[in-house]
Amino acid sequence: MKYAVTAATGNFGQTAVKELNKLVGVDNVVVIARNSAKAVKLFAENEVRTGDYEDLASMTKALAGIDRVLFISSQPGGKVDRATAQGNVVKAMVADDVKFVAYVSFPNAQESTTPLATDHRLTENAIKEAGIGHAFLRDNWYLENEIGFLQSGAANQDALYWANNKAGWALERDYAEAAAKVVAGNAAQEVYEFAGQPRSYEELGAALKEATGNDFKVKQVSHDEYVKALESSGLDNATAELFASFQAPIESGDLAEGSDDLAKALGRPVTPIVDAIKEILAR
Ligand SMILES: NC(=O)c1ccc[n+]([C@@H]2O[C@H](COP(=O)([O-])OP(=O)(O)OC[C@H]3O[C@@H](n4cnc5c(N)ncnc54)[C@H](OP(=O)(O)O)[C@@H]3O)[C@@H](O)[C@H]2O)c1
Repeated sequence: MKYAVTAATGNFGQTAVKELNKLVGVDNVVVIARNSAKAVKLFAENEVRTGDYEDLASMTKALAGIDRVLFISSQPGGKVDRATAQGNVVKAMVADDVKFVAYVSFPNAQESTTPLATDHRLTENAIKEAGIGHAFLRDNWYLENEIGFLQSGAANQDALYWANNKAGWALERDYAEAAAKVVAGNAAQEVYEFAGQPRSYEELGAALKEATGNDFKVKQVSHDEYVKALESSGLDNATAELFASFQAPIESGDLAEGSDDLAKALGRPVTPIVDAIKEILAR
């Protein structure tokens, strides 16, 4: 049985490949990356193949002979729009007769009103229509998204936020380990809503105080005040708006649903939030 991980050179992919190597053996794991030189440096013992989502021919070549794929979603903003680029991956899997794909998706992807969910919904639909065996790994927010909030508290400065709802934050490495476990085994579920315990920013701030021993203020501000605060810390307007937009799916409630799918797939508890915060701040 041959396994492949696509977009393997990112943070998620690097953990997922290491976990999959442990589970099924390095000889059975093919690493697929658009930058194969970077992949060779990262994964000296794995077979590396070049595969760019924007190039159907390269993906078809890369996935030849592969049985089970961990399909990591790419980032928006490429030369080809993300839904089309990811559609190439699906077409390549069909051409290569891939038997199973675990796709890294978005919480509640079929119903979510968040614009970020659209590409994921289209990709899930393309996989279903193609008739490939699948599991959808719908990842809630990576705790790493909150690095600005966490670093403010660590520096004993006000920790600001604007979104007044909950998210199921967990370490990215927990999501990646669970993804490797799903692709390695016989997936028991078609859909996994992967999440940590839903928390508000006030609750995240309380965990941050415990992790750092600091007693800073956790302050809700308006969206515009939040953007201004990011700009005054040195970010340009476009980057500040982008960072602020990561809280929009929290404000809308799209990330508030709880689920124990992540702990079940991991076969252990999700990394406790205080430990997870300490781990990120120590990097
Ligand atoms: N739920 C959340 O909170 C959350 C947060 C962040 C990201 N995400 C999603 O999770 C995915 C993995 O996150 P990450 O932290 O690993 O992101 P990352 O470190 O930015 O890695 C993104 C990966 O996608 C690859 N990639 C981008 N465009 C590609 C293309 N056209 N063809 C092939 N590979 C391509 C990149 O390749 P290079 O190394 O060559 O750039 C890189 O390996 C993201 O792409 C995003 O869809 C979710």
